Amino acid sequence: MTDEHDTSGDHDTIDALLDEQRTFPPSEAFKRNALVADTSLYDEAARDYQGFWARQAAELVDWQDDWHTICEWELPYSKWFVGGRLNVSYNCLDRHVLAGNGDRVAFHWEGEPGDSRTITYAALLAEVQLFANALKSLGVAKGDRVNIYLPMVPEAAVAMLACARIGAAHSVVFGGFSAQSLTDRINDAEAKVLITADGGYRRGEVFPLKTAADEAIAGCPTIEHVVVVRRGGNEVQMVPGRDHWYHDLVEAADPVCPAEPMDSEQLLFLLYTSGTTGKPKGIMHTTGGYLTQVAFTHKYVFDLHADTDVYWCTADVGWITGHSYIVYGPLANGATQVMYEGVPNYPANDRFWSIIEKYGVTKFYTAPTAIRTFMKWGAQEPAKHDLSSLQLLGSVGEPINPEAWMWYQEHIGGGTCPIVDTWWQTETGGIMISPLPGCTTTKPGSATFPLPGIGAEVVDDDAQLVTHGGGYLTLTQPWPGMLRGIWGDPERYHDTYWSRFEGRYFAGDGCKLDEQGYLWLLGRVDDVMNVSGHRISTAEVESALVSHPSVAEAAVVGANDATTGQAIIAYVTLRGGLEVAVDELRGHVAHEIGAIAKPKAIYFTPDLPKTRSGKIMRRLLRDVAEGRNLGDTTTLADASVVNELQRRAVEAPTED
Ligand code: WTA
Repeated sequence: MTDEHDTSGDHDTIDALLDEQRTFPPSEAFKRNALVADTSLYDEAARDYQGFWARQAAELVDWQDDWHTICEWELPYSKWFVGGRLNVSYNCLDRHVLAGNGDRVAFHWEGEPGDSRTITYAALLAEVQLFANALKSLGVAKGDRVNIYLPMVPEAAVAMLACARIGAAHSVVFGGFSAQSLTDRINDAEAKVLITADGGYRRGEVFPLKTAADEAIAGCPTIEHVVVVRRGGNEVQMVPGRDHWYHDLVEAADPVCPAEPMDSEQLLFLLYTSGTTGKPKGIMHTTGGYLTQVAFTHKYVFDLHADTDVYWCTADVGWITGHSYIVYGPLANGATQVMYEGVPNYPANDRFWSIIEKYGVTKFYTAPTAIRTFMKWGAQEPAKHDLSSLQLLGSVGEPINPEAWMWYQEHIGGGTCPIVDTWWQTETGGIMISPLPGCTTTKPGSATFPLPGIGAEVVDDDAQLVTHGGGYLTLTQPWPGMLRGIWGDPERYHDTYWSRFEGRYFAGDGCKLDEQGYLWLLGRVDDVMNVSGHRISTAEVESALVSHPSVAEAAVVGANDATTGQAIIAYVTLRGGLEVAVDELRGHVAHEIGAIAKPKAIYFTPDLPKTRSGKIMRRLLRDVAEGRNLGDTTTLADASVVNELQRRAVEAPTED
């Protein structure tokens, strides 16, 4: 199903970005207070990157036992801070309380209906100990896996930290994923316990989670217990002996649960992400290196002043951004955060800006797709609120187009906030390419340079170094937060990331290098789509479509979309004589994967364009979907298929 790695669709983007000449050096005012205002960290790391990371690990993390080796690197496997022992939850909680900061707010939590909770570090520590003991009482032990399927409630962070405290690995599944997706992820991880909620709030209504969880675990033989957080207040079925209310467990639990030191390479979590085949990959992250990188990057990329900042990352804990930049990085640094449960347009389009005003948010981290949506809603929305507390803005998840960057800076940042465009992946664990706001001159649309301690280079198809122009982004040396593999599938780990370019990690992203060495990320070059910053593989959607009884064959492509970055476009061939409504097929995909994977448009076609060897010509379908003139079609087995598709593509697409 896979084309050759093909960047042909990126030429327009490259040309557009080549025209971007604006530069924004850090202001004197920002530099004055910045943690880093010169290149000393870069210089230090360039001399000895492992020594640099070791210094960060010693400064930013508390260790029970010191490591004996900074990094063991046997391509493609790395171990960091080998021999060291530490506990992540101790680092995120206990040490702040012991240092006298127990009264500092960890979370200003804002529920979508307008309710709120203020949770201090001392309160969070107390709750995590209770819940860690509750997990133990359910038989969870070091080395076990626990699945988490929750809305954006504080208990999500509590559950993750409680697992870390006792050495169980968590696997968080985004609450928007379907029962079927949850089943697949639980079974792959062989999780013992599932933590979910009755329901959560979304756009003013309660969406049921427990019913999806029930449907999921009907197919999960390893699940022994289910913990249910009460949030939605909706009715749920509790299975006696298996299901337990969170609040009952916590009420009965012992308040003291010492943080047990873990080996630096102890598995901290699995997080499933889409690859180029239908089966999601369980990305493995471990303890010491991961915590070091997320603490370092959170501190320096966001220029964190923990005693005065109010930081808000709008991601969901179901994604890596929620793991690294809501839970582990900020809490390790003792930051005060906002955590928000709901959508940006409830009750009205200015909800985010009212939250920033209410809590005096100083550092704000969101996604380009959200920014483009805010642009559509209009500058009058942020203008209704006093956003003068903001000092820095961040962007993550997809390329940010210069126009959105400029709008963000002007209308949210008041023309003065530096913007950090941060490139990284589930696999990298933490931010890899980003400005340091007190030192880097930014350009709208460029993530600028690799951070200190990170090696990144652009290469061409033949693995030759690109010094100027377009190519593929690769990483050239191990980094502490790097994935340690794919759960249960070492071969796939090697093949996906380490086989394309010898000795280099292949990120799957196209990238342009300009004359001054700035990196401009261009999006995925493989069969992974990026829809509103969410990774979805074409193969996953194709197999969901083909699992419908009326569908014979399907080809899915990501087409450029002004708001969501890419949109899912499907071409479907039906089984002889059968018919099905487009909405039914879209609903079927939502049921199989989740609403985020619903195709924006589905075209029925008697045939799919294929090469003579039978491979679907995805590039061509993308050209059709984006209304481009078709390039070379000489390799097509049957050229008439394409004319038919083009004719159909001018019919209005279906949309939500
Ligand atoms: C894309 C999200 C351009 C990229 C943290 C990457 C970006 C994929 C940026 C990882 C950025 C993320 N500029 N593209 N600043 N940040 N991406 O695993 O294609 O959900 O490979 O991790 O998002 O998505 P993931």
